[in-house]
Amino acid sequence: MKFDLNNFLLAVSFALDYVERDIFGVPLNHGKRVAYTSLMIGRQLGMAEDDLADLVSLAVLHDNGLSEYIANKRPQKKVKLENIKAHCTIGERNVKNYPFLRNERDVILYHHEKIDGSGLFHLRGAKIPFKSQIIGFADYIDIRFAANKMYGAYNDKVREIVNTLKNRKFHASICDAFLREITKTRYRLDQEPENIEEAIRRYTPEKFLDLDYKEIRGMSMIFSKIIDAKSKFTSRHSKGLSEKAGMMAAFYKYGEEETIKLHIAADLHDLGKLLISNDILEAERKLTDDEFAKIQSHTYYTRVSLSKISGFKEITEWAANHHEKLNGKGYPYGLTAKDLDFNSRLLGCLDIYQALTEERPYRSGMGHCEVMPILYNMANEGFIDKVIVADIDKVFGSTDK
Ligand SMILES: [Fe+2]
Ligand SMILES: [Fe+2]
Ligand SMILES: [Fe+2]
Ligand SMILES: [Fe+2]
Repeated sequence: MKFDLNNFLLAVSFALDYVERDIFGVPLNHGKRVAYTSLMIGRQLGMAEDDLADLVSLAVLHDNGLSEYIANKRPQKKVKLENIKAHCTIGERNVKNYPFLRNERDVILYHHEKIDGSGLFHLRGAKIPFKSQIIGFADYIDIRFAANKMYGAYNDKVREIVNTLKNRKFHASICDAFLREITKTRYRLDQEPENIEEAIRRYTPEKFLDLDYKEIRGMSMIFSKIIDAKSKFTSRHSKGLSEKAGMMAAFYKYGEEETIKLHIAADLHDLGKLLISNDILEAERKLTDDEFAKIQSHTYYTRVSLSKISGFKEITEWAANHHEKLNGKGYPYGLTAKDLDFNSRLLGCLDIYQALTEERPYRSGMGHCEVMPILYNMANEGFIDKVIVADIDKVFGSTDK
């Protein structure tokens, strides 16, 4: 299948940027702004198109290791991200299976190195991959300065500071390319929240790779980890759902492609949850109307982002319909039986099953025998598919004993 890597990445990358904002208070769209500045520096330096396309991917993903790191250990807001080595090593490991156009190694690992050896791994000068140097510089700029103020006297101040770092912390050619960039009005306008995604698309070379769904799954799993890491109560939710979807696919004797597509849909089904604050997701009480209304938006945003990806038509349906119900009482569209295909129904049932087996702030996780009566009850009341519920009982009842 012809697949546009950066199209996929931009569609789902808000996930990364929301995590960074929630944990470290970095203004939203950090990853995208770093990608934009990196891309513009790369263009100024005359980089080849394939390199530019990879540079954008790597820049968008540069802090992807963060959510896994915080899942294990919640840091204080005071901790500076650039002091946490683990987000570099985890981030590098996560992208190992990412289908880059070139052989990109260690770019994310070394994105906080400085040419004078003062970075986390004490690499110096040309030992630091050049793309790491560009991304590291763009990262520094985004954290230190406000893109929307880059004109007039503010620009003079930025220029002065960058010049003191030139040749000391950052490569001179990167600093000079950046200083040429900020003289342009579009530099700040392109980075406004409403323009940034479109701007990156405009300047990123279109690169279609011939990928199969297996390779695409390598990418969806990175995001599945990020989604699960959002809250300790859901730390295995997408992964667990994806495993169960795989078992049901085997039971139904699905072919390889349909099975992998179902896995991808399960990996990404709760992508929209990244937009909801943990205060709501982890509330130990009944939610208010306002809070529940916010929760209901998550599948809407799952649909908004996945529907931008070419080749994801069915995956979008299966992923985004998981809270719809056969009797029309679900959300966000209130679809009914005639609109819900088999895999949408399947993921809907499995999502309830998976959630009930997990611990929540207000109850502990349930076993198969406690979950099934709830599912049968919902099926009898017309919410979910009776036949699928019975199949789930067959498949997981035998493994649970
Ligand atoms: Fe970083
Ligand atoms: Fe960063
Ligand atoms: Fe959900
Ligand atoms: Fe879910």
